[in-house]
This record gives sequence, C-alpha cells and structure tokens, in this order.
Amino acid sequence: MKPEVRVEPGSPGSKSRYWIEEHFKYVATTTHSPEELPLVIERGEGVWLYDVDGNKYLDFSSSIGVNNLGYPTHPEVKKAVVEQLEKLAHGAGTDFFNPYQVMLAKRLAELAPGGIPRKVFFSNSGTEANEAALKIARQATGRKFFIAFFGGFHGRTMGSLGLTASKNIHKKLVFPWMPGVFHAPYPNPYRNPWHIDGYEEPAELVNRVIEFIEEYVLDKLVPPDEVAAIFVEPIQGEGGYVVPPPMFFMELKKLADKYGILISIDEVQMGVGRTGKMFAIEHFRIVPDIISMAKALSGGVVPIGATIFRSELDFKQPGIHSNTYGGHALASIAALKTLEVVERLLPHVGRLESLFRDELNELKHEVEQVGDVRGIGLAWGVEIVRDKSSKTPHPALRNKIVSKALRNGLVLLPCGKSSIRLIPPLVISEEEAKTGLEIFKKSVKESL
Ligand SMILES: Cc1ncc(COP(=O)(O)O)c(C=O)c1O
Repeated sequence: MKPEVRVEPGSPGSKSRYWIEEHFKYVATTTHSPEELPLVIERGEGVWLYDVDGNKYLDFSSSIGVNNLGYPTHPEVKKAVVEQLEKLAHGAGTDFFNPYQVMLAKRLAELAPGGIPRKVFFSNSGTEANEAALKIARQATGRKFFIAFFGGFHGRTMGSLGLTASKNIHKKLVFPWMPGVFHAPYPNPYRNPWHIDGYEEPAELVNRVIEFIEEYVLDKLVPPDEVAAIFVEPIQGEGGYVVPPPMFFMELKKLADKYGILISIDEVQMGVGRTGKMFAIEHFRIVPDIISMAKALSGGVVPIGATIFRSELDFKQPGIHSNTYGGHALASIAALKTLEVVERLLPHVGRLESLFRDELNELKHEVEQVGDVRGIGLAWGVEIVRDKSSKTPHPALRNKIVSKALRNGLVLLPCGKSSIRLIPPLVISEEEAKTGLEIFKKSVKESL
C-alpha cells in the first residue's frame, strides 16, 4: 500500500494552537518559528509523526538529525533500554565505574577511523562534546588558539560559540564568548569568496582555502606553533548541508601536520550513519585526532555526547575535566545498540543516495529557484535562490516551501541562509522516500 500523509485543511488545528500559545508563555525562547513550523508532536511511529490534532506527517528532519532510527526509536534499542532500566540508569559514571560506558567507549574507539588507540569522554550534547575537545586540545598541546570555518556550527555554549560562525544571531548580545578563534572560508563549491565553481574546479577551491589559512591566518594573525587545533565539520550542517571537495580534508591534514596542529572533526550532525558511513569523515580518508559526536548516537532516547580522541591526548590529571551525567548507563546501552543497528543500515543508506540525487537534480533542472543540490547518503541540502545566474539567496521563498511542505504532510527543516535539509530517518523505506520527495517537489512548485 502506498504510504500516505493526512493533514486537515486549515492546520494547525485548535489543540496545536493551544499548546503553541502555552509554550510561549512558559518555555524559554529558542529557535521555534511558529509561522513556518507550527508542529506540535504527540507521538511518532517509524518515519511518521502525529500531531496533537491527529494529523500524520512524513518526517524528513529526523528531529534535527537525532532520530536516525525513527520514532520513538528502533525496536531493538527500545528493548535494550527497557532491559537496562531494570538494572541501572545513572550510576555516577565519572566517580564510580560501570561496564556499560566501557563497552561503548571501546566500540567507538574501534569504529573511529584509523585503528589507533583512542579514549572517549562522555557528556550530554554536541556543544559539550566540543567543549571537551577544546580543553583536550589545549591541555595536550599547551597551545591556546583555534581555527574554525565560516558557516560552521559547533554549539552555543561560550567555548563552542567561539567556533560557531554560521549566523550572527547566535552571537547577538552575548559577547564575550571564548576568544582566540580565527575563521577561514569553508570550501563551499557553490558559494565562496573567490566565486570559483568548486564543482568544476575543486582543486583550485581547496588550494585557495589552504592558502588563506597558511598565508593569512598562520602568517599574519597567529603563530602556527600557538594553534592547538582546527575544528571543522565534515559536511556543514546548520550552515547549509555543504559538501566540500573530496581532496579538502587531505590537504587540510597535510597543513595541520606541517605545524603540529590537531584536527578536531565535528560529527555531531553528520555522524552515526547519516552519510552512509558511520563517520562522515570516512568519505574523506583522513584520521582525525579528535571526533565529537552527539545527536543520533543514542537512538533519540537519551541525550548523549561523546568526544573520541587519540589516547595520548588524555587529560593529564583527574579533575581537569568531568561532569555528572557522563558515562550514563542507560545512554551507553542505548548508544551501543544504536551503533549495532546503524551498522546494518549503512548499505540501505547508500542505496537511497541515488534516489535523492536523481530526484533533487531533476527538480534543479526544472526550477529556476533551485540553485544548488548537494549531499551524500541521506544528508541532502537544497539551496533556494532568486535565479540561477545571480545565485541571490531567497530565504522568504525557502521559508514558504518549508511551510507549504508541512501543510502537505512533509516535515522539513531550514538550514543556512536559504537552504532546506532533507534528512529522513535512516530506516525510511524506498516507497516512503519516494513519497517524501514527491511532496517536496510539489511543495516547491506550489510555492513559486
Ligand atoms: C555540527 C554540530 N555541532 C554541534 C552542535 C551542537 O549540538 P547540541 O545542540 O547538542 O549542543 C550541533 C547542533 O546542531 C551541530 O550540528
């Protein structure tokens, strides 16, 4: 049977409107935009979300890259979590010991690229995973400074906020964040300061970025032997689902090695199978010194963050860094089972990649306002512009498409200045994926 959405005309319904009103009375202001996304979720089942008015939506958001295994979670993860709840959920994993976090750390160390000895610091979110990475890099190298990229997003706490450079709103009225970060252009093939067509001339684009870091940042702004690490996303997520040229990371690693600078890869949004590999950086064949993870790692059940690093970078003494919930037994078991399920799903993600590539590129050829289509696995971004020749971003049209899609029964999220991400749960079937892509194409055309 063909999978179908079900959204009442005139949605959001009265119950949704009630909860949105109450929300704004009692819950802090974060990133909600009730105009475009008035979605009040009551429950989820597989890749389907149901709102409090009984409408049924197909999810292409994975709730910001968390529910890679669908809703409420994968049955195997649920079973493991329920069994673990009978034994232990929290057991002060940073003061006492438990086998569960050890098993997870060992598995992450085995899975991480490079097959080198690694250790893991556990936390509760992506931003905390990056805070730990910052501290690890500083105390291991004795260096103070960092390099990050324009368009990069690494979190909103004061350390990671110093790295983040995707939208100035993230920094509004909250200065000072951590100082000592220098930003370079990310090799965005579609939109970069040099107006290079990075699809036609990827090596040229990569050379310019590397040259910028070496000739400008390291030569004029900060001595290279004072730079602890370069923080970078393998594919920029919040910044617009931007896929860099294939040789970028190898060139970046060469540069970093030349000056003894560590590479810290932020896999918070792209990790855990999103791109068809466990870690997105595997597509680019480098061995990172540090990897931060969070979001999808525990199957959408419990918050978790993990900072995986070369063992020799470990904190030099107990007490330099720790927390309360790190090494949470329930989170560890959920993550262990999630990794097991995701490993089995990787070939499925790879197979669906071409469906997304073909369908979205067809849309690009048909519609003048679809400027760029990019992605790997089930991580796709579509950039909306006024027209192909000017490439002028068109955020109003992007917002209209996201809003129209929701009313047509498809849940999407915006990213970057005028892009849309299409990131369904990895458990989506081919039929469901086709249905979602149909609704997306229809929503784009209806919004023009
Ligand atoms: C690449 C990346 N790093 C870090 C973060 C921050 O994660 P969290 O919101 O869990 O703090 C995000 C969140 O979207 C992210 O996409």
